[in-house]
Amino acid sequence: MDIDNGIKNKERAVLRFPAGFLWGSGTSAHQVEGCCINDWSQWEKNNANRLANRAKTYWQEWQWKKFPEMLEPGNYISDRACDHYNRYEEDFDIAKSLGQNAHRISIEWSRIEPEEGKFDEKEIGHYKKVISALRERGLEPFVTIWHWPLPLWLARQGGLTNEKLPFYFSRYAEKLVSALGEVKFWITFNEPEIYSFNCFLRGVWPPQKKNPVTYLSVINNLIKAHKAIYSAIKKINPAAQIGIAAHNVYFEAYKNRVINRLLKKTIDWWWNYHFLNQIKDFQNFIGLNFYFHHRINNGFRENENKIVSDLGWELYPEGIYEVLIGLKKYNKSIYITENGLADHEDKYREWFIKETLRSLHQAIAAGVDVRGYLHWSLIDFIEWDKGFWPRFGLVGVDRTTLARTPRPSALVYAGICRNNSLTI
Ligand code: FCB
Repeated sequence: MDIDNGIKNKERAVLRFPAGFLWGSGTSAHQVEGCCINDWSQWEKNNANRLANRAKTYWQEWQWKKFPEMLEPGNYISDRACDHYNRYEEDFDIAKSLGQNAHRISIEWSRIEPEEGKFDEKEIGHYKKVISALRERGLEPFVTIWHWPLPLWLARQGGLTNEKLPFYFSRYAEKLVSALGEVKFWITFNEPEIYSFNCFLRGVWPPQKKNPVTYLSVINNLIKAHKAIYSAIKKINPAAQIGIAAHNVYFEAYKNRVINRLLKKTIDWWWNYHFLNQIKDFQNFIGLNFYFHHRINNGFRENENKIVSDLGWELYPEGIYEVLIGLKKYNKSIYITENGLADHEDKYREWFIKETLRSLHQAIAAGVDVRGYLHWSLIDFIEWDKGFWPRFGLVGVDRTTLARTPRPSALVYAGICRNNSLTI
């Protein structure tokens, strides 16, 4: 073993990513823009006191002591958020300075169509400027058409349960694609599976229903709507690349026991593949949002939770390999459209990114056609019903001044983006 200056001569490996690999980060409109008026902003106001009052019992002591803001109703109201609506050029300058060459945004439907059938040309103009600002900085846009909030007029008509949803979505999408035609990558829906689950089965997000029949009908409605959007976009721009951002989980069969393998097969089918199977002829790529590993033991989740994020989510970056291998059968290009962690102190983020990318590189070596990685997220934001205290940003946002400050891990990620390689 060579000893060099008293430092063991460690093996260094440089993992190179395919030429043209896209490196970036992302956000969603409601979480960062500010002053959205939609079903979420209304729900936040109606539930802020309840969420603040339950915080001490819902979260663990170490969490509410570390993040006392969660005890305040204001933590749960998006209001001005990060004012990204006005500061998007500053934020994109930061993304560019961090060596990134792609960026994911979402379009806020309630701005585009504040009243049924009435489209706001000024707001469409705003997003044209946003897309131009990305292009001017060499950031390939990934545009999410729907990242969860709905216009109030649609929410009042049953929202995702409305049987005219495919028509409403395709009309909205036609407007966007006609105006933003130069966009190449369109993500129709963000995580339709988990959204339907949280809103219509768990009943924790608006409209807080707990009805299995409605849950299933919403999923079918979204499948129909995705196909309608796909057809509408292709008529206007046949070269457009269209997909969803799927929330796929690494379900592990504990000790590979038969019962656990059967359970894994079943939940894999429903959670990871059902939506993708239904739209497989209506997608050009698969967007993968990867966060969770669930180890199944006799029907229960039994994770070791050796390392957890501020949210208490187990950090299991190597799980992305199994999820990617599971997607190989679709023979589609894959882009990681979300992957990150709540880590206010930036304690784990560098390790997490490197471990994730090491496993991603292994999947590419195994023949999975991964062509990009968009870290979640560029800047801190409001994390839906948890509020502002979970910090996912590569770039921190001061909640009082809204000043942006890149975290140390953002600079490490910048080196990986610039070199298109990871040194381990
Ligand atoms: C995903 C959402 C995203 C953010 C991350 C933490 O499910 O798409 O908006 O909340 O989780």
